[in-house]
Amino acid sequence: MTAKIGVLTSGGDAPGMNAAIRSVVRTALHNGFGVVGIRDGYNGLVVNEIEKFHRGSVANIIQRGGTILGTARSKDFETDEGMEKAKKVLDEHNISVLVVIGGDGTMRGAKEFSEKHGVHILGLPGTIDNDLYGTDYTIGFDTAINNALEAIDRIRDTAASLERLFFIEVMGRLSGFIGLAVGLAGGAEDVMIPETPTDINALAKKINESIKRGKKSNIVIVSEGDEAGNAFEIAEKIKCLVHEDYRVAVLGYIQRGGTPTANDRILASKLGFAAVEAVKKEIYGCMVGEINQKIVYTPFAETYEKKKKIDPTFIKIIEVLAT
Ligand code: F6P
Repeated sequence: MTAKIGVLTSGGDAPGMNAAIRSVVRTALHNGFGVVGIRDGYNGLVVNEIEKFHRGSVANIIQRGGTILGTARSKDFETDEGMEKAKKVLDEHNISVLVVIGGDGTMRGAKEFSEKHGVHILGLPGTIDNDLYGTDYTIGFDTAINNALEAIDRIRDTAASLERLFFIEVMGRLSGFIGLAVGLAGGAEDVMIPETPTDINALAKKINESIKRGKKSNIVIVSEGDEAGNAFEIAEKIKCLVHEDYRVAVLGYIQRGGTPTANDRILASKLGFAAVEAVKKEIYGCMVGEINQKIVYTPFAETYEKKKKIDPTFIKIIEVLAT
């Protein structure tokens, strides 16, 4: 009986997930494995929504955002009963290895499922947040920052025309990687991220000095998980301290959609290929990532217990280039 690999996408969708699915499926078939697609994350295992995949199943998807498998955050799978049902379904379909593509919640589920039921699992980092330890970049991050950047550039036009201050909120959940990247690339005055303390008075001072220097548009990027609040809350706190009309823009879900960039397609294809290579070497229980252009395997627990560090030079550079 040829070994069979099951692939699923879980948690928030990320552009590039389809490129990763395509790479896992095509590499597995190339190596003589059987492959099945599992719908809607781990839930597809609980409710037995499984489809046999062939080469054509992943044709013409590398350029598509979202995930053809669908995704979900499965409450049932988090229960002992749900996990037992999932294991039964794996056994019914003779699935010997699971490849799960998702964020920290996906890696938590993979750790628990593999430890409680002895399932062979490999994880791929699929989230726009880039907050997983064990990889320089997660699949979806590059597309998300480029989506956000396009919106920020558009907002800058109207900010300059009306000499307005804008607070622009980006995603990232409890991390500031998106905020920092678009703050630097978007030429922001400042970036409010969860990893650094937000000083409202210092921010007001910086903005007023910028206005005094005659800056036509002032942009402040706010990561949604900032400890001082979201963009509306920070704007509310600062509005009496700054001498300029202001507006708030929440970029939201546009960051998650659209065609994946070349970088995300390349990363997804490399990691999907590496996951099947790991199966051939019987490496399991870890997330497959890329650090300094080398494929690395990180035990599931470390991917969410260890904190990936932001690059402090980004903050310094933003500060210098904004003055
Ligand atoms: O984890 C990806 C992400 O887009 C976060 O940046 C965001 O906070 C969250 O998902 C939104 O979750 P949902 O799609 O369930 O609203």
